[in-house]
Amino acid sequence: MLGKKKSLVGLDIGSNEIKAVELTQFGDHVKITGFGHAPIEAKDGIRDTIAEMLKRSGIRTRRVATSVSGRAVIVRYINMTKMSDDELKSALRFEADKYIPFQVDEVVLDCARLPDFGESSGGEGEKEMKVLLVAVKQTLIDEHLQIIQSLGLVPTVVDVDTFALGNAFELNTLHSPRVEDEEKVIALVDIGSVKTNINIIKNNTSYFSREVYLAGNDFTESIARRLSTDNVEAEKLKLNPQGKEEAIEESILPTLDDLGNEIHLSFDYYENQYDREVDEVFISGGSAKIVGLKTAFEKAFDRRIHFWDPTDNLEVKGDRVDVQDMKGHSPQLAVAVGLASRILDR
Ligand SMILES: Nc1ncnc2c1ncn2[C@@H]1O[C@H](COP(=O)(O)OP(=O)(O)OP(=O)(O)O)[C@@H](O)[C@H]1O
Ligand SMILES: [Mg+2]
Repeated sequence: MLGKKKSLVGLDIGSNEIKAVELTQFGDHVKITGFGHAPIEAKDGIRDTIAEMLKRSGIRTRRVATSVSGRAVIVRYINMTKMSDDELKSALRFEADKYIPFQVDEVVLDCARLPDFGESSGGEGEKEMKVLLVAVKQTLIDEHLQIIQSLGLVPTVVDVDTFALGNAFELNTLHSPRVEDEEKVIALVDIGSVKTNINIIKNNTSYFSREVYLAGNDFTESIARRLSTDNVEAEKLKLNPQGKEEAIEESILPTLDDLGNEIHLSFDYYENQYDREVDEVFISGGSAKIVGLKTAFEKAFDRRIHFWDPTDNLEVKGDRVDVQDMKGHSPQLAVAVGLASRILDR
C-alpha cells in the first residue's frame, strides 16, 4: 500500500550468539529500527533465547529473514554450456548429483547464472557460462523453520550466511557516499566463533565462497592450552586479558597464521579460476576484534585490509535502538543486516 512502512527482521542464529536487526523501509532507503542480541547458553534452549531476546529488544515485526550455514549447505560455482534459464533449471535437476554429496531428493536446490566475468573467465569463450548452485539439506531447513514458526514468527526468506554477508556489504555501499570501483575484487571475511566465511565478490556478485572451520573458539582453545586453564576461563581472558595481553597474543598467533593461510588458499583458488587478483579484504564477525589479527593478515595476504561496520551509513532510530550497545556489537551484525536488507527485494 502506498506510503505504508515495511519492516523485516534479519535473524542470525550464530553458533555463539543470536543477533537480530530490524530494518524499516522509508521510501527508497532503510533505517535500523530494532536491534537485539543474546548469547546461546545451551543448544536446546535456542528457541527460548530468541523469544526473550526479541521481547527485550522491543522488536515487534513478525516477518523474519534467516539463514543457514555449515556442512549441510553446499555452494558450487560450476561451468556449464550456455543455455536459457529454463533449460538450466531442468538440466540441473539431472546433473546436480555430480556436484553435491547428498541425494538430490534430500535437498532444496537453487541456481543462478553469474554475469560474465570478462575476457579472462577461463578462456572458454562464448560457449560456457558460470552458474551458482546452492543445495541445502531439507532437514536443516525444516528444523530451522520449525523454530521460527513455533515462535509465532513469519519466515519470509531463508538465505545462506555467506550471501547475507554479501548483501550487507552491498547495502553498506549503496548508502555510502564513497564510490566503489565496480571492477574491484573484494574478499569479505566474517570470523565468527565456529567458522570463518569467505565470500569473494565483484560488483555485488559472488564468484567464490567457502566456510573454514577455524574461528573464535579455536583462539579460545589456544589460550586455554597455553595458560593451562579451561575454555570458559580462556574465553573470559580473550575478551578481557587482565594483564595477560602478551601471553594471550602469543598463544593465538599460530592459530591466526593457520587461518590466514586457509584464507589465502581461497584467494589463490579464486585467482587461478578467474585470472584476476583479490584487491582488498573486508573483515567482520565477532572475532575480527582478536588481538594481532591485522598484523598477521597483512603479512599473510600482502594487500589492504579493512575492518568494516555493517551498520555504518545506515540511519538508526535512536528511540528504538540502544545505539551504544549496537555499535559495541556491530562487527557481528553483518549477516543480520544482510538478511534484513532483503526488505529491498522486489
Ligand atoms: N573483543 C573480542 N575479542 C576477541 N574475540 C571476540 C571479541 N568479542 C567477541 N569475540 C568472539 O567472537 C565470536 C562471536 O562472534 P559472532 O557473533 O560473529 O559468531 P557467531 O555468528 O555466533 O558464530 P558462527 O558465525 O561461527 O556461527 C566468539 O568466538 C567471541 O569469543
Ligand atoms: Mg556468524
